[in-house]
Amino acid sequence: MKDQTLFPLYNKRGLPETPQRLSQKSDDTPQPTHARRIYIETYGCQMNVSDSELMAGILTQNGHQTVTHIDDADVVLVNTCAIRENAETKVINRIKHLNHRKRRQPELIIGICGCMAQHLRDRLLDAAPYVDLVMGPDAYRNLPVALDSLTGGVEAYVSPKDRDPFLGLRLDRTEDYADIAPIRKDGIRAWLTIQRGCDKMCTFCIVPFVRGRERSLPLKLLVADVEKLVDQGFKEVVLLGQTVNSYHDNHSDFGDLLFAVGEVNGLERVRFTSPHPADATERMIDAMASSPTVCKHLHLPLQSGSTAVLERMRRTYTAEEYRTLVAKLRERIPNIALSTDIIVGFSGETDDEFRQTYQMMADIRYDSAFMFKYSEREGTLAHKALPDDVPETVKGQRLKQIIELQERISADINTDAVGDTVAVLVEGESRRDADRYHGKTDGFKTTVFPKANSRIGEVVNVRVDNTTAHTLIGQIV
Ligand code: 5AD
Repeated sequence: MKDQTLFPLYNKRGLPETPQRLSQKSDDTPQPTHARRIYIETYGCQMNVSDSELMAGILTQNGHQTVTHIDDADVVLVNTCAIRENAETKVINRIKHLNHRKRRQPELIIGICGCMAQHLRDRLLDAAPYVDLVMGPDAYRNLPVALDSLTGGVEAYVSPKDRDPFLGLRLDRTEDYADIAPIRKDGIRAWLTIQRGCDKMCTFCIVPFVRGRERSLPLKLLVADVEKLVDQGFKEVVLLGQTVNSYHDNHSDFGDLLFAVGEVNGLERVRFTSPHPADATERMIDAMASSPTVCKHLHLPLQSGSTAVLERMRRTYTAEEYRTLVAKLRERIPNIALSTDIIVGFSGETDDEFRQTYQMMADIRYDSAFMFKYSEREGTLAHKALPDDVPETVKGQRLKQIIELQERISADINTDAVGDTVAVLVEGESRRDADRYHGKTDGFKTTVFPKANSRIGEVVNVRVDNTTAHTLIGQIV
């Protein structure tokens, strides 16, 4: 088995003086031995969606083509997630299914990319020996080389034992893909990765081990990217990073970036995800409070309402500090929409510690929440040092309790919005009703309303007439 990871065969190109990305093929673009038709399938978070766009950029820059239907593909790349065990199980099942396809189409190349590839490494080949390529998030630059090296795969497939899968698993603390132009689907909202990796080391979390150390992209480049996105017709940009607000570029911090992006002409809205509570600076709050383009919507992962649990998680803030931050945000930014992530059943979580999480959710009244049972991940600090000792049934009961609580709160908050007029960025036709559009409010609430004379991409005022727990329904006024 080749380990190409030690030799990045495909050199990085330096960034030009004026920051920009290489979206066009240039004369020195290496030509592939075989131009491939590649289908990319994405699991997991928004960062993975953004990485898939990056992979599409790298592949097309190198003479390959991406396709939107798997039946047209001779390469399938599955971009995977490792955050919880069920994310990995889902992908394993999917790869098994792809092997059926490979039996019918023996020359099909199957690649596993992303966090799960980095997590399971060559062990993936034990579970799925028919996989041709295993590549982590810092190795996508090697995709063209990998595909070229696999062009002998047709004969090799006849004898799977002799096959030579390509492994690209080196984490590279300098890789930021700053020179690569991602290929995005046209639309209203574009996701822009501003930072890769994570330095936080929360004990439950696999991310630092599969995405490596934190690195930020240059501010000038990002502002130029946003200008280009606006030229392409995007109205909203979502800035992405694992701890997005620890962004820094020399003397500029995340607040500076928000202000700079907020000033880009023609951009309606900018959001970001996910910030870390310990990195919520005054300047970030200033930008949210004062830049009309920056949405008044914050996804602020709490994880637990118990300081003792937060300590075991190494979240670096106490429950009290988090409450103080929320109070400050609400004072500075009235009507701010807040959402969060919660983990129940983390190592040693007692009934009382869980009750504190429940109480905190009841007190803060988030607009919405993503809630999870703790899933122990091999390689994390918790896996090494803290037992996964809360019984599965208890995790399940606790999860059910907070889901019920949150559903009630979300429904109540929406009911309170009846009669209000909200600004909605029109995104597209409602799936259920061709006479209606759907869009999001500044606070990221899905809103559905009759089209009237509105157009996709514009901001309209909608009066809310009725609601469900997750949707506002109204009329343009
Ligand atoms: N188990 C359960 N949930 C987890 N998350 C991260 N790691 C784990 C884990 N091991 C959740 C956190 C994080 C979100 C993206 O996923 O709540 O904020």
